[in-house]
Amino acid sequence: MVDLGLKGKKAVVFGVADENSVAWHIVKALNEEEVRVAIAYQERAEDSVLALVSSLKNSIMVKCDVTDDSLLDNFFKKVKKEFGTIDFLIHSVAFAKKDFLKGKFFEVDRKGYKTSQEVSAYSLVEITRRAYPLLNKEGSIIAMTYMGSTRVFSNYNVMGVCKAALEASVRYLANDVGDKGIRVNAISFSPIRTRAASGISGFEEHLKEHKKIAPLKRNIHQEDVANLALFLCSDLSKNITGQTIFVDAGYGIMGSY
Ligand SMILES: NC(=O)c1ccc[n+]([C@@H]2O[C@H](COP(=O)([O-])OP(=O)(O)OC[C@H]3O[C@@H](n4cnc5c(N)ncnc54)[C@H](O)[C@@H]3O)[C@@H](O)[C@H]2O)c1
Repeated sequence: MVDLGLKGKKAVVFGVADENSVAWHIVKALNEEEVRVAIAYQERAEDSVLALVSSLKNSIMVKCDVTDDSLLDNFFKKVKKEFGTIDFLIHSVAFAKKDFLKGKFFEVDRKGYKTSQEVSAYSLVEITRRAYPLLNKEGSIIAMTYMGSTRVFSNYNVMGVCKAALEASVRYLANDVGDKGIRVNAISFSPIRTRAASGISGFEEHLKEHKKIAPLKRNIHQEDVANLALFLCSDLSKNITGQTIFVDAGYGIMGSY
């Protein structure tokens, strides 16, 4: 095994809801590398997150919602008290009402558009600003995205527009924090069965299509994303920033026939 040099580092992770969450698999991978983790979880996921974290070493979990300033204040206050500084910030958060993840994109209303942008894209900006004073030099920030940012996938709709904003934010943030040697990247991955994905109409069809079309003729799993996250946390990726990096079994290289 390659020593990634992560032992003793500290991470903040947003987006663990249950055992299928991509964020949970990243937490497990970091924990195996002896990275301390602070998990920000939504109240409705409390029971499942509590059950999961008992297996972790030295972690903390704090209730938080990315749309609530007082909960964000409280979360980062606790992180500062417990950890002092941090090395990694993982953003694995998205939300859009099910009504807007089907049919025509233009059916999204003003409120639905604003909420999904606030939770799924703006939140990266908000938490990066709050984390910046705590982040050590040479730290790493990682967000999760999907190819629906640059191509049209049926039913993905408003979330595709959120992911475009998220990926652009990654580039601007990379420029903002680069003077501290901090890197910001997005992992773009193909469909995985999770709670968030279950809200997208026809999701099972997306999985089947992906497997049929991708050069590797298979779907990907949470561990594939976690492995790339470890690489992006480590010094192996020290000169990679502002990028959207794909884990998609090659799907994205294919034409339409
Ligand atoms: N599953 C896929 O097929 C897929 C593909 C590409 C990208 N992604 C992205 O991966 C990320 C993680 O999603 P997942 O698939 O693991 O699903 P998930 O449902 O396990 O994770 C989504 C998380 O967002 C959190 N969240 C939603 N609204 C929030 C709020 N207001 N405040 C704080 N947290 C909030 C939820 O609590 C949950 O933990 C998302 O950004 C998603 O868009 C998923």
